[in-house]
Amino acid sequence: MELKISIARKALRNASGQTRVVLHDVVFSLRQGEICALLGPSGCGKTTLLRIISGLDSDFEGRVLLPSPHKIGMVFQEPRLLPWRSVAENLRLVGASSENDLADIAAALHLSKHLDHFPGELSLGLARRVAIARAFAVKPDLLLLDEPFVSLDAALAACLGRELLALVLKRKATTLIVTHDVDEAISLAGRVIILSAAPGRLIADLTIETPRGALTAARAAKMKDAILSAMANPSS
Ligand SMILES: Nc1ncnc2c1ncn2[C@@H]1O[C@H](COP(=O)(O)OP(=O)(O)OP(=O)(O)O)[C@@H](O)[C@H]1O
Ligand SMILES: [Mg+2]
Repeated sequence: MELKISIARKALRNASGQTRVVLHDVVFSLRQGEICALLGPSGCGKTTLLRIISGLDSDFEGRVLLPSPHKIGMVFQEPRLLPWRSVAENLRLVGASSENDLADIAAALHLSKHLDHFPGELSLGLARRVAIARAFAVKPDLLLLDEPFVSLDAALAACLGRELLALVLKRKATTLIVTHDVDEAISLAGRVIILSAAPGRLIADLTIETPRGALTAARAAKMKDAILSAMANPSS
């Protein structure tokens, strides 16, 4: 699904009534099936941008164009599972999936043994996996992920990253994934968009041309340099 984003300005009012610009001049498009990483310093507006794209926040100047009908799968920065429902029920609640699909998604994310557990019984890593599974259970055309692997150990994050990639490629879901981890961005995404410190504006839009899986260590190191240098020199 193609996604066109053009945010001229997004402002928020804080508790003392002052208005503060959170995002400005964020313009980019994603092609169907494109996997794009979104990077930027803490507080620059990444979560705000995802909320705008998902339609949860419509109070901004600009436009977000999504073809209709469309289905959005969203992984929030916190897992946000319903505590009074089991893992399986949390997945069923978002609708769409058959029991077979549900079993497949649970298996892909190594959750089959946990389907009868309740969120309170899960470690944070397991809860994050359920949140990812829930986003897939929707059968999304557009997948929005807000730091889905944060606070997981590196091995598990890499493993879940591979599972995520397999699921995304199978569904050809257009994907925007927020991360603070440059290596993770390079390993998962075909493109990297970088926002400046608050108020967030788009400062770099980099394509990783190499077909996924064929990324050499030298090319990955070059990309990492380019990303770090864009983040260090936001005005250049
Ligand atoms: N409901 C709100 N009311 C007022 N200000 C808010 C609100 N939500 C977020 N903000 C402010 O908007 C700015 C952007 O927040 P946002 O959560 O989008 O940043 P972020 O890039 O996702 O940060 P992080 O990497 O820490 O998750 C921050 O300065 C934050 O304090
Ligand atoms: Mg955030």
